[in-house]
Amino acid sequence: MRNQENILLEVKHLSVEFNGFQALTDVNMKIHDGELHVIIGPNGAGKTTFMDLVTGKSTPTTGIVLFEGVNITGKSTTEITRKYHIGRKFQGPNVFDNMTVKENIEIAMEGYSSMTKCVFFHKSAAFKDKVSEILGLIDLYDYRQFMASDLSHGQRQWLEIGMVVAQNPKLIILDEPTAGMTADETYKTGEMIKRLKGEHTLIVVEHDMDFVRQVAEYVTVLNYGQVLAEGTMEEIQNNDEVIAVYLKED
Ligand SMILES: Nc1ncnc2c1ncn2[C@@H]1O[C@H](COP(=O)(O)OP(=O)(O)OP(=O)(O)O)[C@@H](O)[C@H]1O
Ligand SMILES: [Mg+2]
Repeated sequence: MRNQENILLEVKHLSVEFNGFQALTDVNMKIHDGELHVIIGPNGAGKTTFMDLVTGKSTPTTGIVLFEGVNITGKSTTEITRKYHIGRKFQGPNVFDNMTVKENIEIAMEGYSSMTKCVFFHKSAAFKDKVSEILGLIDLYDYRQFMASDLSHGQRQWLEIGMVVAQNPKLIILDEPTAGMTADETYKTGEMIKRLKGEHTLIVVEHDMDFVRQVAEYVTVLNYGQVLAEGTMEEIQNNDEVIAVYLKED
């Protein structure tokens, strides 16, 4: 349920300007704990920029980012990942090609376990169980001994989702996770993301409207750096302004 009590992330009056270009203007958004929140909008609408501001990659000109009520505006990407547990997957896969699938997940997990200072954790049964669980979640258990370079484009994207999950983030941010995927891979990615919900809160940017319909609980539409509309998938699909600027070609 969306109510005032369970807001995980809130941005207030967020604006950013790059060399005179206003990329975001007065964006207000609330992400509730445990929800799967999809952001849609035309190319250049400011979706990736929004993620950059939440994860500390860019600093807003005005406005604030609150995570669990704490003002994290202007904090470094490292601090936001490690201390506040916000994990992000960028557009396009980004994995270690010269390692196996399993090693990629282990590396991501070790980063997390060294942060918790649990020295023996990485050799423990709990660690191995967690690695197997994540490999299952991303449909790559049978491929765990494959080199990452031998995976398909879609599988590499899943591996990177697994690497984000391995860091045990409270909030997972995914930028166009189905880009370049086949229809079958896109559908599987949707089911994967739905499995992550509940244990994690997710913000997902996507253009593929079949995928958005498959997963979205709540949708925000950005256009020219501003929030054009927000609501349930049904509300968004029936919003005349959204249809006019974004959905008419769908
Ligand atoms: N660091 C930057 N410096 C200058 N301009 C930037 C910077 N980051 C983003 N922009 C501009 O801000 C606008 C919004 O870009 P952004 O990448 O956020 O759009 P998007 O909604 O993610 O689009 P797409 O769907 O194509 O990925 C674009 O016009 C882009 O060129
Ligand atoms: Mg983008």
